[in-house]
Amino acid sequence: MLFVEANGAKIPAIGLGTWELRGRTCARLVEQALKLGYRHIDTAQVYENEREVGEGLRASRVKRDDVFVTTKVWTNHFAPHDLERSTKESLTKLRLTEVDLLLLHWPNPHVPLAETLGALANARKHGLCRHIGVSNFTVGLLDEAVAACPEPLVCDQVEYHPYLDQTKVREACARHGMALVAYSPVAKGRIKGDATLARIGRVHGKTAAQVCLRWLVQQNVSAIPRTSRIERLSENIDIFDFALAEEEMTEIFRMASPKGRLTDFGFAPKWD
Ligand SMILES: NC(=O)c1ccc[n+]([C@@H]2O[C@H](COP(=O)([O-])OP(=O)(O)OC[C@H]3O[C@@H](n4cnc5c(N)ncnc54)[C@H](OP(=O)(O)O)[C@@H]3O)[C@@H](O)[C@H]2O)c1
Repeated sequence: MLFVEANGAKIPAIGLGTWELRGRTCARLVEQALKLGYRHIDTAQVYENEREVGEGLRASRVKRDDVFVTTKVWTNHFAPHDLERSTKESLTKLRLTEVDLLLLHWPNPHVPLAETLGALANARKHGLCRHIGVSNFTVGLLDEAVAACPEPLVCDQVEYHPYLDQTKVREACARHGMALVAYSPVAKGRIKGDATLARIGRVHGKTAAQVCLRWLVQQNVSAIPRTSRIERLSENIDIFDFALAEEEMTEIFRMASPKGRLTDFGFAPKWD
């Protein structure tokens, strides 16, 4: 496993995304992922699966300190007292005393950013999390957040895959010593039928998904693919025994298009 180092945090380069994984399936996948060598699990309050993520963690018997657990605070809990209360609720569900990384899930223009960041920093000071960060922050918001936050932010978790150019966010993260954590890293499964990725994969004896994830990791990005299939857990982590050549990296960078963004919840920030 490689790690992405960012402002004191060591984030495993591959993690398991858990959005839409529920109940027994979620607990079983988390347990199995950890048994297969995953050391990074991504959940969120709004996924309504923190309890099952916690069950999977305990069932795996992997030592707590060896796993990097991220959760996220939803936007309706950004008022300072709400943020602390809701983080404690997350910890109760996970049955953990602290998470490794606590993120603001989306920007919320209705609560002053400095106040929310102050509360996020306090959550760290009070031992509820080891590190703090943001998600879905544009470059402008990221610069604002770094300037306003009393503690270092370690990542911006954003959508990133070969169909979407994230050069600006990647450069901003690097400028601030932060990591980019890529969500929807296999473009919600769309990479499966991609001819370019499949062709590159054949050269290395790898699948299109493995080429895609390797391309992210080779940029010093951490990726959190989600799967509900046990066999794909192994596929998605088996990317550390090959490397893409510079020409292959460049070819994949050229796949991005202005229509490549897949996430649109109707309240997304203005990106450009
Ligand atoms: N911060 C945010 O706002 C935010 C937003 C979205 C997501 N996330 C996080 O990022 C995680 C990943 O993003 P995502 O769930 O949107 O999308 P994703 O991981 O890119 O794609 C998941 C989809 O791809 C399929 N898939 C997974 N591995 C595959 C493989 N090797 N080959 C072919 N298909 C494969 C899965 O199907 P099967 O289940 O059939 O394998 C599933 O339908 C989420 O689970 C969540 O933890 C965060």
